[in-house]
Amino acid sequence: MLQGVIFIKNFPDDAANGDLWLLSYHKISSMNILIKNIKELVQIEETPQKMVAGKAMSVIGTLANSWLFIEEGRIGDFGMMPIPESILMKQDENCRVIDAENRMVFPSFCDSHTHLVYAGSREIEYIDKISGLSYEEIAERGGGILNSAKRLHNASEDELFEQALGRLDEIICFGTGAVEIKSGYGLNLEDELKMLRVIRKLQRVSPVKIVPTFLGAHAVPTGYKGKQDQFVDMVVQEMIPAVAAEQLADFIDVFCDRGFFTVDETSRILETGSKYGMRAKIHANELDYSGGIQVGVRHNALSVDHLEYTGEEEIEVLLNTETMPTVLPGAAFFLEMVCSPVRRMISAGLPVAMASDFNPGSSPSGNMQFILSLACIKYRMLPEEAINAVTINSAYAMGLSRDYGSIARGKVANVFITTPIPTYSFMPYAYGSNKVSTVILNGKVIRTDSL
Ligand code: NIG
Ligand code: FE
Repeated sequence: MLQGVIFIKNFPDDAANGDLWLLSYHKISSMNILIKNIKELVQIEETPQKMVAGKAMSVIGTLANSWLFIEEGRIGDFGMMPIPESILMKQDENCRVIDAENRMVFPSFCDSHTHLVYAGSREIEYIDKISGLSYEEIAERGGGILNSAKRLHNASEDELFEQALGRLDEIICFGTGAVEIKSGYGLNLEDELKMLRVIRKLQRVSPVKIVPTFLGAHAVPTGYKGKQDQFVDMVVQEMIPAVAAEQLADFIDVFCDRGFFTVDETSRILETGSKYGMRAKIHANELDYSGGIQVGVRHNALSVDHLEYTGEEEIEVLLNTETMPTVLPGAAFFLEMVCSPVRRMISAGLPVAMASDFNPGSSPSGNMQFILSLACIKYRMLPEEAINAVTINSAYAMGLSRDYGSIARGKVANVFITTPIPTYSFMPYAYGSNKVSTVILNGKVIRTDSL
């Protein structure tokens, strides 16, 4: 067994004491790592790209029978076996050698859209859903986001932190190395700040790269029913300045859709967010052709997410912009919605990113391996397209593609070694089982099963 490896298993109990966990992570010594006998290095880049679009999405760089050298937490070099003398020379007491025994190495998945800080769960609504109620009908009955807001209000910052840390540990085991986390279950200033402070604390302790997003306008709270404009005033006048004052978020989100926030309200919120240094990354076109994509692009959003209702007009608007169309297959699967027209988007030349949307209402899973499978099965993406969607393109959708999302020299060493699998296409094909064995984040071995 490898020296200094910690097992992040049996959570949430293991994660119940965040400080202990933090200690064990930081105790792992920083060593260089040489991985040899790799069956195939997947998603390598000689010349790193910001993202890939259209036809280029069906191409990924790979290198069979290879080695990978990790130096000071970053990708140092890689090449074909045998290992050259210049790398062998670097094998000192500060270098750990891992024999991959003919397994594959992937860059860690990037999950650019989650709500993984939440209190409790909502399986009760799951039963309502099975009985035939729609997402909107459940919301109208006080379920949905309002239900999570109530639970969050009653949870302490520590409880929220511990629950979220357990979820982070779980997604680490499934191969995620960078994740965006939104607020949005607060619906008032105090609770939104509580969520964002929890996200900040997670940033400090977790080896996963975390990007925080402020989602003040996620739903209209009960007290503002019929006074939605006043709630938007509050988001703009009180919440945004307070979030910015503590520098708690990099991005700003709005649930711009039928029954939630209008295009004009979204526009107002994004404009103010941008004045306070938060770039837009919004929920759009999940429930209808809501104009969300258009308002996102107008505000130069880094991403517009969901996109079940995307037609030719929306595709046209997205072309030649900096906005990453981001599809959330877990939510469409769980709510049995129509699938976003991904094939049409790619053939029009657009890039596509995919993320988990990990949340208690529409996608209670952050397993990016399952997202890969859904990408292929439900959206008819080729394995290469799906891999690009959950790595480099989803890194771009968090503003991280310079450092994450592929195996390229100089990028942060966030990679995983697989279980013994025959081809990289086996990753989406064999849905339901965990094909991630050893996890390396920031050049440290975080978890291993058997090597
Ligand atoms: O991305 N669509 C809006 N928000 C979340 C769901 C939140 C919830 O139901 O708790 C989503 O699907
Ligand atoms: Fe979401």
